[in-house]
Amino acid sequence: MDRSADACRILESTDIGSQKDRVVTEEEWLQKWEMGNTGFHKEQGHPLLRKYLDVLLSGRSGLRIFFPLCGKAVEMKWLADMGHTVVGVEVSEQALKEFFSEHSLPYCEEPVPEISGAKKLQSTSGNISLYCCSIYDLSSYVSLMITLMEKNSSYLLVTVSYDPNKHKGPPFYVPESEIKSLFRDCCEIKCLQKVDDFSEKHRQWGLDYFLEVLYILKFVA
Ligand SMILES: C[S@@+](CC[C@H](N)C(=O)[O-])C[C@H]1O[C@@H](n2cnc3c(N)ncnc32)[C@H](O)[C@@H]1O
Repeated sequence: MDRSADACRILESTDIGSQKDRVVTEEEWLQKWEMGNTGFHKEQGHPLLRKYLDVLLSGRSGLRIFFPLCGKAVEMKWLADMGHTVVGVEVSEQALKEFFSEHSLPYCEEPVPEISGAKKLQSTSGNISLYCCSIYDLSSYVSLMITLMEKNSSYLLVTVSYDPNKHKGPPFYVPESEIKSLFRDCCEIKCLQKVDDFSEKHRQWGLDYFLEVLYILKFVA
């Protein structure tokens, strides 16, 4: 009898009701690191990652590998030693500092201007960059778009404009000032067109105008 398959079936059929709303908050994670309650950390790395590393890499070299919720995962060191570039995100600065010190890796720290309060800890050799912030900050739309854009690539962005005192959204009003504050450090921003998109639906929302605003962002930095 395949007991593991049976266990899977049991898990699949178990009602997760009691866990549905259970969240480990960022504060609780920070406390775990402070108290040394880090039973989740595997000093020898995760056996399954070791086992399936070839499947993951499929012969490719020089990859950029992302570790969300990285803690002080030792696999980051293995992969960097194999010639890959590692990017991690972790809310606990203590975890990241322990990573560098436990592997005797010199590093430097710098703020991340796009994300308030975030820091980047980067190995001096440059191949391990660990962001200290919430994953939710890093994977916000803007950061994601910036990471996807190469120099000189262009990004068409459409926003909507209306009087936000008259309708609470969605869609949400995005002023030009916000586009500028989000993208101006890395992009040239040009407004291409404002289109009158007002319809009966918008009138029923209580609006008297509704525009679509099209921008082109050119990644320059
Ligand atoms: C299961 S542990 C992973 C540990 C890691 N594999 C290791 O060996 O250290 C999950 C990690 O996610 C971090 N974490 C939890 N919520 C987070 C969030 N919103 N953003 C970034 N990191 C978070 C925790 O601090 C914790 O280190």
